[in-house]
Amino acid sequence: MARLEVVPFSDEHLDEAARLLAARHARQREAEPLLPKCFEAHDAAHAEVTASWHAEGASGAAAFRAGRLVGYLIGAPRDTDVWGENIWVDLAGHAVDEAEDVRDLYATAAARWFDEERRRHYALVPATDPGLMDAWFRLGFGHQQGHGVREVPAHIDVRIPEGYEIREPREEDIEELLPIDLALSAHQRSSPVFSTRPLPTADEIRLEWRKTLAGSEEKILLGWLDGTPVACWSVCAAELSRHYSGLGLPERACYLAFASTLPVARGSGIGVAVTDASLAAAAEDGYTAMVTDWRVTNLLASRFWPRRDFRPVFYRLYRSIP
Ligand SMILES: CC(C)(COP(=O)(O)OP(=O)(O)OC[C@H]1O[C@@H](n2cnc3c(N)ncnc32)[C@H](O)[C@@H]1OP(=O)(O)O)[C@@H](O)C(=O)NCCC(=O)NCCS
Repeated sequence: MARLEVVPFSDEHLDEAARLLAARHARQREAEPLLPKCFEAHDAAHAEVTASWHAEGASGAAAFRAGRLVGYLIGAPRDTDVWGENIWVDLAGHAVDEAEDVRDLYATAAARWFDEERRRHYALVPATDPGLMDAWFRLGFGHQQGHGVREVPAHIDVRIPEGYEIREPREEDIEELLPIDLALSAHQRSSPVFSTRPLPTADEIRLEWRKTLAGSEEKILLGWLDGTPVACWSVCAAELSRHYSGLGLPERACYLAFASTLPVARGSGIGVAVTDASLAAAAEDGYTAMVTDWRVTNLLASRFWPRRDFRPVFYRLYRSIP
């Protein structure tokens, strides 16, 4: 095989990078047909790579063999308040002919990121390509977040466990919903997730609920036990989520944005029932796909969603260099 030559990424590489991205996406769609077909076309893929490349502070690398582009890697920083001193390789941020070459591309691109003191590296990698994931793992990356997709069936039987009911929230329920919100944040802050996101205050949660109930963007379903809400699920149009766009956004997709059951009711079957009720509501609203995401270190969520037929389609991999 010809020797690999890696150079800094520049405008002149965009056209060939789009060819690689369109090919990556076509391969991925063979494994996950729910992903949008349009990005198999060069122009649509070109727009995605160009957007990654034009992100503020973007830099990257391009790899050649015998004068032909065989891979590229682009990263750009996101909000440091949320992500620390970071670099993100987004959905269109890399594509390679040979998985192993991503390690050479990273070696070149990351030298600059390290010099810029951006030591937290996040990469969205097709979950459907084990060889590519493995190459990232051998760069010191690990699973952080899973992004899953599933079909919305036209009909689904909702089996509500005994003693429970499911209905939408009303303004006067807000006070009783606070513990359910807090239960999710507390769970994410505990071992082994260790999220650093602070617990919301009661006033912040109340305000958020008032805004949500005043609007019509979210479909909220609550599970009630003996007149008390113990579970809350929220679904909205997938476009409204910053996690779902472009290559990762199936057609007619909704986003399961929030799910939390009070510890006392976990394992009772109410979560399965509210998930099924949410799918039934999504079908009524004309959605044909549902997406959701979870921390891979969240033992409950990372087992629950795949058991509800959400297939991982992208993983966010993470490496922090001390
Ligand atoms: C993930 C979570 C929402 C699941 O909700 P839940 O109400 O516990 O879900 P259920 O009780 O319906 O199902 C949990 C398990 O119990 C099983 N179960 C269902 N009915 C049951 C019953 N009658 N008896 C025993 N087990 C039962 C379910 O099949 C499921 O197991 P499986 O996934 O292996 O099939 C909940 O664990 C939770 O709130 N976790 C913390 C917050 C969180 O992680 N939220 C998601 C963020 S992405």
